[in-house]
Amino acid sequence: MEIIKVANYEEMSTVAGKRIAERVRNNPNIVLGLATGSTPQGVYQYLIHDFKINGTSYKNVTSVNLDEYVGMDPEDPNSYHYFMRKNLFDHINMVNENVHVPNGVANNLDEECIRYEQGIKELGGIDLQLLGIGENGHIGFNEPGTPFSSRTHIVTLSENTRKANSRFFASIEDVPKQAITMGIATILDSREILLLASGEKKAKAVARLLKQGISEDFPASSLKQHKNVTIIADQDALKYS
Ligand code: F6R
Repeated sequence: MEIIKVANYEEMSTVAGKRIAERVRNNPNIVLGLATGSTPQGVYQYLIHDFKINGTSYKNVTSVNLDEYVGMDPEDPNSYHYFMRKNLFDHINMVNENVHVPNGVANNLDEECIRYEQGIKELGGIDLQLLGIGENGHIGFNEPGTPFSSRTHIVTLSENTRKANSRFFASIEDVPKQAITMGIATILDSREILLLASGEKKAKAVARLLKQGISEDFPASSLKQHKNVTIIADQDALKYS
């Protein structure tokens, strides 16, 4: 794992955004694995800026998102579909048909997991996967204890994760209890992985990732088995490392 130390959230976003924009320019048909949450918002702002200034084109780019809440309609402002549109897709020239987010309102969720996983395979896999990290070490919504062999599946969110994500909702009761997420094996199949971490809240998780061994109790540690992972973390996130 390569570690890039940066000063703050802004620098993290710029360094990651530059790398992604460069990958897109070098491979206009790239398959990007994308994440939601607070961490990548600055990266998406960078990409929007770069699109406007440098004209980096997303016409032939395909995106696959890590996860979606179960029961959340794509039009719901708290859905990850909606997040991606508002934070990125509405502002660049992505083609709708090339955007993939798990369907949290599918009639048959098990079939949706198979369909999503199969879809990634048919695209030829993910070239570059962007990841945040949960305070409990989750990647995607793979909570502690998830087998590293897992593929796209339904998860019950931990209380810890629901609490962390309740900041986007009116109250914790409104945070869905389940989600669809790419599995750890799905994520590890990506050819390149970029994990971002910013802020003191992530410092314990980052220290555990960097200092301790591989364990299913700590999903992010699975990344140590991957050959092409870059971590971009700011000073606060590296406080205990
Ligand atoms: C989001 C995702 C999650 C987040 C993680 C960190 O699609 O899969 O793993 O990356 O929960 O969230 P933030 O960035 O909000 O701290």
